[in-house]
Amino acid sequence: MWGGRFAEGPSAIMQEINASIPFDKALWQQDITGSLAHAAMLARCGIISKADAEQIKIGLHQVAEEFAANGVDEDWSLEDIHMHVEAQLRATIGEAAGRLHTARSRNDQVATDLKLWVRDAIDQTDAALAAFQTVLVDRAEEHAETIMPGFTHLQSAQPVTLGHHLMAYYEMIERDRSRFADARGRLNQSPLGAAALAGTGFPIDREQTAKALGFDAPTRNSLDSVSDRDFAIDYLMAASQCALHLSRLAEEIIIWASQPYGFVALPDSFSTGSSIMPQKRNPDAAELVRAHSARITGCLHAVMMTMKGLPLAYSKDMQNDKPPVFEAEGLLALSLAAMTGMMREMTFRPDAMRAAAERGYATATDLADWLVREADIPFREAHHITGEAVKLAEQQGVALEALSLDALKAIDDRIDDRVFSVLSLDASVASRNCYGATAPDRVREQINSARQRLAASAQ
Ligand code: ARG
Repeated sequence: MWGGRFAEGPSAIMQEINASIPFDKALWQQDITGSLAHAAMLARCGIISKADAEQIKIGLHQVAEEFAANGVDEDWSLEDIHMHVEAQLRATIGEAAGRLHTARSRNDQVATDLKLWVRDAIDQTDAALAAFQTVLVDRAEEHAETIMPGFTHLQSAQPVTLGHHLMAYYEMIERDRSRFADARGRLNQSPLGAAALAGTGFPIDREQTAKALGFDAPTRNSLDSVSDRDFAIDYLMAASQCALHLSRLAEEIIIWASQPYGFVALPDSFSTGSSIMPQKRNPDAAELVRAHSARITGCLHAVMMTMKGLPLAYSKDMQNDKPPVFEAEGLLALSLAAMTGMMREMTFRPDAMRAAAERGYATATDLADWLVREADIPFREAHHITGEAVKLAEQQGVALEALSLDALKAIDDRIDDRVFSVLSLDASVASRNCYGATAPDRVREQINSARQRLAASAQ
């Protein structure tokens, strides 16, 4: 009565809720890699015979070929990828397959598999982030002198260079890379040999499997090894932070590409048209990067909440860690590819940026600063005088630097013609030349140092 669509009753429901093969088949390569290391260690420690180990090794390579060619044939009664690999091994080499699972459990096996998978994901993400950074520095260099309005509250604030703005994202991505690297460093200890939870009485050599799998060392506590997924959470936290950065850039691209701004033209390759409005060129890729960040952070929350309150050691809840990890990885990789492509191919419109900076009276602070510096006026008063000048420019519909000296003198006669040297956008930007500031020379300095760090990280 309550079985509904589950034709075969309770056992079918149990099988469906229990089976992880629909998603953990993504781990087949890691599972085979782990098993190869385990079998070799068992033989070297004299726990299984060299002949059995050799057969297992040959068999596992055949299983890998089979899965690579035809995929994993899902059988819910076999529950998960670990049982699928073993069943396929048995079908390939027979009896000896039964010796592979000596001195291990699916609990240390799955922790090992997922660590190997996340480690690969981190390495691939890092390479994608480096590629994105390369595009950012290239575009920043091209536009080291291009002037645009810098914003606070999305209101024109002070002029900045586009190169400076793009390098801000470079810095965010550099920190993202360091977060992934931290996650990788903490992850890189081998759980294999922790067995179900308490370790094993077989004389295994955990150092050996750790080394074979590229881990720095075996984990120090068997209970911890099989019961935590903080390495997956670390990865998802780094991925979430990175996705948030991409989402902010996506939002800026969406704003910049809108007609009232017109700061960029999106390439055909990264925009879509409208089925009804022929003039439209929609920033769908940027919008989806923005939306994907919501799903990626959702994946982080799913794993954190799964782990909350779980007693030591393994509970089946932990099987559910995989879909969010896999999903976040896929979404981040795609977001990064889209961002890198858009950044490489979009056309910046320096004229529109400059015009917007002029309209926004972005050099008003420079005028106030000049009054303080050259006429010894207290900043509060200078602020007020500048406000009058902006009001006048607004009334006349001109840029600050286009006001006549007479008009400025009528506001405050301590102003003289030297003021024009600070009112232009170029002078304003060039004057902001402290370390890390927006002056083109400083931006080139940032770019050079970024290129050096990028080259060093590629070694
Ligand atoms: N498919 C399981 C998972 O992903 C493997 C571990 C099963 N362990 C167990 N004691 N039932 O978590």
